[in-house]
Amino acid sequence: MAKTKTQFVCQECGAKSVKWQGKCNACNQWNTYVEEVMDSGKSEERGRKLSKPSETILPLSINEIEVDEGFRLKSGINEFDRVLGGGIVPGETVMIGGDPGIGKSTLLLQVVDKLSRLQKDGQGKCLYVTGEESAQQIKLRAERLGARSNNLYIFPETDVFAILEQIEKTRPILTVIDSIQTLFLADISSAPGSVSQVRESAARLTYLAKREKLPMFFIGHVTKEGNIAGPMTLEHMVDAVLYFEGDIQRHYRLLRAVKNRFGSTQEIGIFEMREDGLSEVADASKAFLDDHFVHSSGSVITASLEGSRPLLLEVQSLVSPTNFGMPQRRASGIDPNRLALILAILEKRLGMAISSQDVFLNIAGGIKVVEPSIDLSVAVAVASSFREVPVGADTLVLGELGLSGEVRAVSQIGPRLAEAARLGFKQAVIPHGNLKAVSLLPDAPLEILGVKTLSEAIGILVPR
Ligand code: TYD
Ligand code: MG
Repeated sequence: MAKTKTQFVCQECGAKSVKWQGKCNACNQWNTYVEEVMDSGKSEERGRKLSKPSETILPLSINEIEVDEGFRLKSGINEFDRVLGGGIVPGETVMIGGDPGIGKSTLLLQVVDKLSRLQKDGQGKCLYVTGEESAQQIKLRAERLGARSNNLYIFPETDVFAILEQIEKTRPILTVIDSIQTLFLADISSAPGSVSQVRESAARLTYLAKREKLPMFFIGHVTKEGNIAGPMTLEHMVDAVLYFEGDIQRHYRLLRAVKNRFGSTQEIGIFEMREDGLSEVADASKAFLDDHFVHSSGSVITASLEGSRPLLLEVQSLVSPTNFGMPQRRASGIDPNRLALILAILEKRLGMAISSQDVFLNIAGGIKVVEPSIDLSVAVAVASSFREVPVGADTLVLGELGLSGEVRAVSQIGPRLAEAARLGFKQAVIPHGNLKAVSLLPDAPLEILGVKTLSEAIGILVPR
């Protein structure tokens, strides 16, 4: 009898090795190698048989290829559709990751419910495959959400062959797999959740999705670093990768695309977790500024641009003398390195003695901002707390900072100022370089001040 061949596979990155290793040479993770039986080739045969195309596919001239451009299945949940680029494309596969308990199952249950309700009776079924919770648990959640569409089918199954068969039979307009890590293929010997199981399961589902133009959503667990667990190849396999994030303690949730073959990765969707599920937050700026009543030092309002949508945010800073040892720097919502740079500019260019101070910085609402256009507001917030001079509550601060303390122009100033004007702001301190663009805009009900340097901005906003 032939000896079963085994190999060791890194569960983080999918690297293979003939012997066990404590540390993976490819991704430097510790203790990630697991022994798996090598593929005998039989599984491939079976997979091919099961997903054999109905007719032979031949190469086509590029001019012969027809596209049904523009057709997108809309769930009716605008925040969700926008992140996907305007709805679900036929045959699209989407991976959605996020911390446990953040609301992935809730979101997708709401999506399939809404979507199947929009279809005429019996016309479009939606299939929710659950490997994590029982049908009863899903039902309990659905009752909370008010999800009771006749076209919504719950399928508690983890065997990929059974799922493929069911999808081919019922042809659901949308299939949700909750979660991809619970699936298993009987012809692969490694445990559910292991790299080869996840990769193969996703590959076979994706193949069916493409062939039959049946869109699928895969819910994925995340590692403690916040990446989708399983092989990196998983993210290459699907058309879009979304992350659902936010603070479990707070009620706002953000849906963000990190990869999207059918749309921009800039758009975000904002939701609020309520007693009866997730609800869309259409007026996000207003929601994020809701608590901005206290007029205190260290708080500055800025406008960040998330995709096509301007978002007003509150930057909060607290600067206090260090009691002993190393001064602390804590940043949440912005890159700590960016904060360190801004502090260095304040210290060197303005002579502020921040090196003996603890600095805490926070973007209210639990949002993360990567745009440099908030630099100036961060610097002003720190200076405001350091000098204990509050910034006017109806003032918007915008601008990118250069190393010599110059204020650089930001992109798309128009929508940002318009958003501030809409919410009743009276004054905006913006880069001098943007003044020309602003003068072209129709009269905004804002007093606009252009600044060339950080010290000019500090002189206006937080004078000594
Ligand atoms: P869930 O969708 O199960 O999270 P995930 O699938 O990402 O692990 O969401 C669970 C959390 O959401 C749970 O802590 C309770 C909360 N929740 C609400 O606040 N309201 C609701 O209507 C529902 C269904 C859940
Ligand atoms: Mg879940």
